[in-house]
Parts: sequence; structure tokens; C-alpha cells
Amino acid sequence: MKYIIANWKLNGSKPLLNEFLNQFATYNSHNYVVLCPPHLLLSDLDSINIDNFFMGSQNVSEFTNGAFTGEISAEMLADNKIFYSIVGHSERRTLLAETNEKINIKIKQLLSHNITPILCIGENLEQRDANTFKQAIDLQLEKAFKNIKIDDKTIIIAYEPIWSIGTGVIPEISQINEVHEFIKTIMKQLYPKNVNRFKIVYGGSVNLKNYQIILSSSLVDGVLVGGASLDSKSFYEICNFKN
Ligand code: PGA
Repeated sequence: MKYIIANWKLNGSKPLLNEFLNQFATYNSHNYVVLCPPHLLLSDLDSINIDNFFMGSQNVSEFTNGAFTGEISAEMLADNKIFYSIVGHSERRTLLAETNEKINIKIKQLLSHNITPILCIGENLEQRDANTFKQAIDLQLEKAFKNIKIDDKTIIIAYEPIWSIGTGVIPEISQINEVHEFIKTIMKQLYPKNVNRFKIVYGGSVNLKNYQIILSSSLVDGVLVGGASLDSKSFYEICNFKN
């Protein structure tokens, strides 16, 4: 059972969402689908009743409530039956000053409302070229999970090498496997008793040409799809992946 997650970023519209809902009305694959459109499109959730099909937020505030213009809290997401949220996407880290410390607080907010975090981590090209990517990933994980108890909650970690996002360049499958195995090792150190609660998905230029080889790896629990998730037919095909 894989997780197929769509990150629409700042794209989409009500007609596009309706197109997706029509496309998925007969969805009967066993993979979990999580559609993360912009917040305003999340309000249609009550009309959705498709097996294994969920909606997720692209972000959440680190604050509970108060004078924080433009923010949306974990409580508000839970009120609207949104039980997945992306956190720490590299675009937010680099363009919107999202620090590891903020990400840590956001994960705590999400878990306290029973929302599954989809934590994005990954190295930039410089770190890949300098062969320091493992240190970079280790640091992101240690800081993201500082003082967090997960108990029986599920956490999704999306390995998204920044150099692969939106570029059409994907790592070799051996490189993806190597990092997924590395992430698992770190999580085992941090959570020896709950390591199976962590699902590790890959993100970065996933499309119709490469999803099968990526999803066929037993070390890959799913994919996070950006650009290719905006086309309902392509995304539907990816969601119907069978091993
Ligand atoms: P991409 O984006 O599939 O367009 O590369 C992935 C992401 O940013 O999550």
C-alpha cells in the first residue's frame, strides 16, 4: 500500500478540483491518495466519499490562534476534517523563511490534532556535489523531531532532493534507495520502538515516465508529485500503480 500525494502548490481552481473528483469517483486501487490543493479548495471536503482518498493542507501555522494574519491553524484543519498536512517543503524553507525550529513546532501542532505530517526534507545541489547530503538530511530530521513523542501516530517523510524539484532530473533509483535506507536508520535511532510508524516517500520530478521504477522499490512507501499532479489523468494513472 503506497501513498500517492499531490502537491498542487499555488495552482488549481474549483473546476480543476471537480475534474479530479469526477476522475476519482470510481477509484478502487489500494494505494492511499492525498490531494493537497491550496487552502481555499479544501472546503469542498464534505462532498468527498472515495475510499482511500484524502485531502491535505500544504502548510499549517506554528501558532494556535491570535494576531497572525493569513495563517491557518492545525485546529482549523482538523475542524474541516483535513488529516494530512505537508510541512517544511523546500520552497517554504528557502523562499518563506521556514526554519527547522518552526517545522518542529508545526509537527507538534499537527500531531496534537491527529493530523499526519508529511515532512519534506532533502539536500540541495551543493550538498549533493560535496557529498554532505547525509549530514544535511540528518540535521533536518534531528531538528524536526526534537522532543516529539509519536506514540502510535503515522508520520510521512518525503525525501525531496531540491535539485530534482521541478527540474525533470531525478536521482538514480540506487541513490533514492540509499537515502531512504539512511532515513530509516536515523528514525530507528530516534524512535527504536516506533520506527514502523514512519513512511518514507520520494518527491521531485515524478511523472508518468518514472513513477513505476520509483514505486517498485520496496524501500519507497510512495511519491509526492508536484507538476504531474495537476493533470487528472496522469495523476490517476500514478495512483493506480500496482506492484
Ligand atoms: P515536482 O514537485 O514534482 O514538480 O518536481 C515536487 C514537489 O515540490 O513536491
